[in-house]
Amino acid sequence: MKPIIIGNWKMHLTASDVGDYARTFLAEPDILTKAEVTICPAAPLIPAVAGAFSNSPVQWGGQNAHWETQGAFTGETSMAMLSNLGCRLVLCGHSERRKFFHETDEMVSRKVEQATAHSMVPVLCVGETYEQRHQQQHEVVVMEQIRKGIDLLSAFPSLALYVAYEPVWAISTNQAIEPNPSDIIAMARLIRNALREELPTGAESVPILFGGNVNPQNAKKFVDGEVVTGVLVGGASLNPKTFHQIVTQLV
Ligand code: 13P
Repeated sequence: MKPIIIGNWKMHLTASDVGDYARTFLAEPDILTKAEVTICPAAPLIPAVAGAFSNSPVQWGGQNAHWETQGAFTGETSMAMLSNLGCRLVLCGHSERRKFFHETDEMVSRKVEQATAHSMVPVLCVGETYEQRHQQQHEVVVMEQIRKGIDLLSAFPSLALYVAYEPVWAISTNQAIEPNPSDIIAMARLIRNALREELPTGAESVPILFGGNVNPQNAKKFVDGEVVTGVLVGGASLNPKTFHQIVTQLV
């Protein structure tokens, strides 16, 4: 299976930066065909990213969208809007959404449902805070995020889902503590077990990704190719050369 590599640009770059980024990133396209690479820019940049990468192996996705199909929600983006721009996946419940925009597990589960209803792959983001790990609550917290996050998926005949385990304390803009890879694999195994318990079928084929200050130096440590099969990259995806190096490390 190809490694899955997702770049989350967060609230960085502008549409004017996309052309140069794409030219640099696509300079060695062969290697990109050996991975499944997706870039998630901020919503207003999606048309530029779609234009720059449409004839390349690189795909694009959304960082977030609302759980309602449409309506009077000023400033929000719908799943239909993302899907219409060719997004193949959408991040749901990123820790920054949970922290700064007070997203609950219930909201996240409705986003996962809406993404699926619009034929995009929901990337369910889970992860505990530093305090929660310190208090030995990390397993309980993450299992709850998984169970509630996929709560509404059983209504769909086929399953398309990724899980991204991003311990909040490992993210570069937080404490950026580098985790022990064995702790990441252990949590990924627990996530797999929870998926087996909750999903009627398909739990074995849900890719589990790791995120948290992934860079070209450490990417390989966290991807064992069996339990963890990809990465969700924030800061290091903003530089096309660095992001390309991460792809090179993992293929
Ligand atoms: P960093 O790679 O900057 O730590 O961000 C991780 C992340 O939050 C990706 O979604």
